[in-house]
This record gives sequence, C-alpha cells and structure tokens, in this order.
Amino acid sequence: MPVIETQNLSKEYSSGFSKQKVNALNDFSFSVNEGEIFGLLGPNGAGKTTLIKILLAITFPTRGNAKIFGTDVRNHKAKAKVGYLPENHRFPNYLTGEQVLSFYGRLSGMKPNDAFKKRIDELLELMKLTQWKQTKIKKYSKGMMQKLGLAQSILSEPDLIFLDEPTDGVDPIGRKEIRDILIELKSKGKTIFLNSHLLSEVEMICDRVAILNKGDLVKEGNVDDLTKAENIFAIHTVEPLNIELKQKILAIDSNAGAGENEINTEAGVDNLNKIIDLLRKNKIRIQSVSQKTSTLEELFINVIKKDNIS
Ligand SMILES: Nc1ncnc2c1ncn2[C@@H]1O[C@H](COP(=O)(O)OP(=O)(O)OP(=O)(O)O)[C@@H](O)[C@H]1O
Ligand SMILES: [Mg+2]
Repeated sequence: MPVIETQNLSKEYSSGFSKQKVNALNDFSFSVNEGEIFGLLGPNGAGKTTLIKILLAITFPTRGNAKIFGTDVRNHKAKAKVGYLPENHRFPNYLTGEQVLSFYGRLSGMKPNDAFKKRIDELLELMKLTQWKQTKIKKYSKGMMQKLGLAQSILSEPDLIFLDEPTDGVDPIGRKEIRDILIELKSKGKTIFLNSHLLSEVEMICDRVAILNKGDLVKEGNVDDLTKAENIFAIHTVEPLNIELKQKILAIDSNAGAGENEINTEAGVDNLNKIIDLLRKNKIRIQSVSQKTSTLEELFINVIKKDNIS
C-alpha cells in the first residue's frame, strides 16, 4: 500500500480584489511508497507547498482525493504518524530551543515524562544544538533554526516526514549533516517527502522525483533512470584507434566523436553494437561502455523549458 496517494488533485486559489483565479495544482496523481525518499521539484510558484498543505489538510483541494496510509487526508487520523517541517517556519522566538521542542512535542500528544526529555536531548545532540538548548531562538542563525525545525518534525518518531525546503539557508556542512540524518531515517524504514530547489542534493538522496510546473506534473521517475541521457553512449578502448578505423566508425555514425581511445555515439543501441562489432573484428579491446548521464539540474532545466514552450 502506498504511503501517499493522490488522484486528480486540483487546487484553484482565488485571490485579491478581482478574485483572480490561480490553478496551483492540476489533476495531480501520484504515489509515494513506504521507505522512499521522494523529492518534489519545481520552479517558484509551481504548487509544491500547496501539495504538502493539501496532504496535511492545512488547505483543501478544489477537486480530487488524497490519502495518507490509506486514510483520506480529511480524516485527522491520517496525520497520527506524520511529521512536518514547514517552509519558512516561525517558532515563537521568545522560547529556547529546548522549549520549542517541548512545546511542539506536547502539541503532537507526547507526554512530558523522562523519555520525552531524553528524546529532546538526543535530538538536540543530533542537530549539534546541545550547547544552545537554553538559548532563546531569536539568537539562532538560519541554519540552526532549520535544524531545530527538522528536530521538531521527527520528535514524535513519525513514519512519514514532510520537509518543505529543509536545507534552506543551511551552509554546506550543515546540509551534509541534514542529508546524513535523512539517509539514517530512511534506513529505519521512514518515508520522506521533500520539496527542494537544491537539485544536486535531491539527486544525492532521493529515490524518486516528480517535477511540477505551473501545477502540472511534467515528469516523474526514478532518479537514476531520469538522469540517464537516452541513446548517448561512450566506448573506451584499450588500444588506440587508427585513422582507418575512425573512418569506418564515421561510416556507421557520421556524427560519432572518435578520439584516441574513446568513441561517443548518439545514434542508438543498434549503431552502438555495430561499432562494438567493428572494434572486436579489428582486435581492439574494449575497456568500458557507458551510457552518458545528465545531472538532475540539466534534466530539470530542459523539462521546464520544453513545458513552457508547449
Ligand atoms: N493562499 C493562497 N492564495 C492565493 N494564491 C496562492 C495561495 N497560496 C499559494 N498561492 C499561489 O499558488 C501557486 C502555487 O504556490 P505554492 O506556494 O504552492 O508554490 P511553490 O511551488 O511551493 O513555490 P516556492 O518554490 O516559491 O515555494 C502560486 O501561484 C501562488 O501564488
Ligand atoms: Mg513552496
């Protein structure tokens, strides 16, 4: 059973005096499986936060359905095992870090006993905030606030964690620490849904991603599959290629790039195999054959550009 499932989810906001309509989400259907780290990507205003808010019943869809753990999100029981780090969270700034966690822990129904205090200390330690626990959070840096927010979201040991821009404003070392924490949570079987603009990070930790543009789902899939550039192959050889062989390669694929020990071809699998046969026939040993990959950022930019043109 998927942990999150939506069917034709649509959200139309009307705002301002003129009641101008904004389609924040159009017929969005997707699912997230247990134990996955799922990344939702999209330009500003694409509808990412709107989707999280619908899944948490903070706002309601205009049409369509959403379920968490098989329960309709309108039923508050769906949220029993859910943690949430909101985008631009604003904790009361007169509280200390420890008080913030205590307050939100009690809001989520945790009993203020010794185990609860121990859990808060553990999380402050994990986030490297122990020495700041009795400091009012108005003195916290942006990165510290973000880590406190993450601690808040996992305090009650939820099975599903929504993180809206978890590394926003966090320095590279802090981002690595957050990534390691998320990977550790995944290893414990937790499901993580995250919104992020930091595509290199998403690429490092997410199993699957969806790309949203102007409320439409424009791409979805496994990160490894999406970043494999179709039909672009590189062959590395042990022996160098002579001119005669290079000409024969160009006869198979006129656009092939042939260097000293490397051939690049975009002419598809059949031509790739023809080139390999030619090399083998000429007693050239093959070191490796690889399919070229693009970064998630390159994919994202191409997908959004194409969608904006169409
Ligand atoms: N409460 C609201 N009333 C009216 N319009 C809204 C409201 N909330 C969001 N919108 C609009 O809905 C669209 C989607 O907004 P949303 O915040 O979901 O985008 P996002 O993908 O999270 O963007 P960002 O990357 O900037 O956080 C935007 O056009 C936004 O202006
Ligand atoms: Mg947002």
